[in-house]
Amino acid sequence: MLQTQQVNTPNDTISKITLSNGNETSIVVSNLGATLLNFKTPDKNGKLQDIVLGFDTVEEYFRNTDTYFGATIGRIANRTETASFSLDGETFQIDKNEGENNLHSGPNGYQIRIWEVESLDESSNQVTFKLDSSDGDQGYPGNLTLKITYRLTDDNQVTITYQALSDKNTPLSPTNHSYFNLNGHASGSIENHLLQLNASAFTPIKDSTSIPTGQIADVEGTPFDFRKPKTIGQDIDQPFEQLQFAGGYDHNLVLDNPNLQTAFATVIGDKSGIRLEAFTDLPGVQFYTGNFLNNHPGKAQASYGKRHGFCLETQFFPNAINVPNFPSPVLKANTPATYQTIYKVSIH
Ligand code: GAL
Repeated sequence: MLQTQQVNTPNDTISKITLSNGNETSIVVSNLGATLLNFKTPDKNGKLQDIVLGFDTVEEYFRNTDTYFGATIGRIANRTETASFSLDGETFQIDKNEGENNLHSGPNGYQIRIWEVESLDESSNQVTFKLDSSDGDQGYPGNLTLKITYRLTDDNQVTITYQALSDKNTPLSPTNHSYFNLNGHASGSIENHLLQLNASAFTPIKDSTSIPTGQIADVEGTPFDFRKPKTIGQDIDQPFEQLQFAGGYDHNLVLDNPNLQTAFATVIGDKSGIRLEAFTDLPGVQFYTGNFLNNHPGKAQASYGKRHGFCLETQFFPNAINVPNFPSPVLKANTPATYQTIYKVSIH
């Protein structure tokens, strides 16, 4: 089922669209930032839980620009070293918004854009948002059209489909920045959640700037080895330099076999029994444990503290545009590209 609500803010009219299925699962998405606002599903006791962090009002999404709750990030998610890159013999400068580097494409990111609601499709329970990002927008080359479709299926899959077309070669690595807490958005630390992740390698970072060294390192024998299930918190405070740089996990893991049929990650909420499976055809995932959350006021008077949510941000590797041995994030001119990420919930 699909319902639309218009919210008037001083300057804009924002849409909130609810997609629900016959299993009491529902999501609310907005054309502000093509954001996932709510994701509700019953826990093992049949009580509805909203499993994503966020705000009650759209104004707060405009104002709080450092958490990126539920938002779409583009053109490039994650860090770009020195906020510059070369492409086809030309150098491009983007905003320096994290020291000398760029994070999430800068202050004028896609998360605060008002996207066009291109289509609402009741029969397939989906909504498509569209953004035209002109040549030079944020400093990137090429007129890019990006469409994002959110769909909720009857078997509780939220599919996020990215469709992109540019008239010049341009880097593109969009992500969805949802913070999950499978015990319910306001239920504290996620450190007792159980995680299994099919990644045999990760991309180590140089220091607290979180810029990758360019190496692809084996997870074997490190706290980054989640190939067998373990709690998120089990090794998070180990005296391991990579974790200390970021105050916990905030690293790109290299997916063993990115595809849409086998989950790359399975996470279980210890109190709720809610299981999240994530699928993608993108090569990497930034596993972020909410290390920088600092009692942020959230939905329904919640206060989100350090490690109260985790993100599985599917993407090309951080700084990939500057690292030749990482898979290339370049979208070729006049060549449509499609990427997909799926978050599926069930009871453990
Ligand atoms: C993540 C990033 C973190 C932090 C967060 C937003 O994607 O890796 O370091 O910046 O976004 O607060």
